[in-house]
Amino acid sequence: MTKTIKTVGVCGAAGTMGAGIALVAARAGYRTISFDMKADALERAGKQSAAFLDKSVARGKLEQAKRDEILGAMSHTTDIGELGACDMVIEAIFEDLTVKRDLMKRLDGACSDDTIFASNTSTLSITQIASGSKRPERVVGMHFCLPAQLMKLIEMSPGILTSDETFQTAWGWTKACGQIPVKTQDKPGFILNALLVPFNNDAIRAVEAGVASAEDVDKAIKVGLGYKMGPLELIDLIGLDTQVRLCEAFYPITLDPRAATPPLLSRMVAAGLLGRKSGRGFFNYEGNAMFGA
Ligand SMILES: NC(=O)c1ccc[n+]([C@@H]2O[C@H](COP(=O)([O-])OP(=O)(O)OC[C@H]3O[C@@H](n4cnc5c(N)ncnc54)[C@H](O)[C@@H]3O)[C@@H](O)[C@H]2O)c1
Repeated sequence: MTKTIKTVGVCGAAGTMGAGIALVAARAGYRTISFDMKADALERAGKQSAAFLDKSVARGKLEQAKRDEILGAMSHTTDIGELGACDMVIEAIFEDLTVKRDLMKRLDGACSDDTIFASNTSTLSITQIASGSKRPERVVGMHFCLPAQLMKLIEMSPGILTSDETFQTAWGWTKACGQIPVKTQDKPGFILNALLVPFNNDAIRAVEAGVASAEDVDKAIKVGLGYKMGPLELIDLIGLDTQVRLCEAFYPITLDPRAATPPLLSRMVAAGLLGRKSGRGFFNYEGNAMFGA
């Protein structure tokens, strides 16, 4: 038996990932309620979603009527109580176990007993996040890729107590959205970030050690290995602040020295160089604002 999903909540909906996740759901015909603690950023994310859909219309990929229908199904709020109407809530808030566990507790209070909670965590344990909720059997890992509105892959991870019904419902929902799920165990970093966090840090350390410029490190990876995007360009897209949070979450669990925050990364975040979301990171993006940031 799987549960019927009609209304989907997204927490952290003003962030890099949350805004795109809400679009994925709304585009597939679900009513979405976007929740964030920052009202101004939430309003900006709403405008960016509309601009994204307008571009799809201009390119002939979306009918104007469908664009209006999608936007009409999306609402935004800073009141967690409004998530009470949701059959499933996907959290994409800061990568911090304490913050995520606290959100689970607040969601318990806001939502009905059978609402499913999905976590977009990149590196943290689904079982540990679920321990913040009184319904760990209804908590599941659902890791989207950036940018969520364009990338198809979702890593789906059950925690120790996740029920089969919850997992199957969430899995079926991702497919109904046109996404491509893969099942992984509840292990640090799942598939992608277990490989990417150390690799991306290695690229930062290469720049820090003066091996080559950021441009040339990325060029070597793209031309030499055939990657579409270099690791430093990718970190700019992820957000340097988010990369620090990933390291801080991933390193203590794995004790992999390659996962420890590179000093250059900390210094750049302290200087406000957060990547695309701030207009500058390893590269410059003046006037080229990041979706959802
Ligand atoms: N950036 C990426 O490339 C990427 C990719 C896949 C998954 N993720 C994961 O997605 C999650 C979010 O990452 P991000 O890069 O979008 O972060 P972000 O910093 O861009 O956005 C996080 C958003 O969460 C909001 N928020 C934080 N705490 C909150 C709370 N208690 N209640 C409501 N809103 C709250 C913030 O206001 C912000 O808008 C993390 O778990 C991260 O690991 C990130």
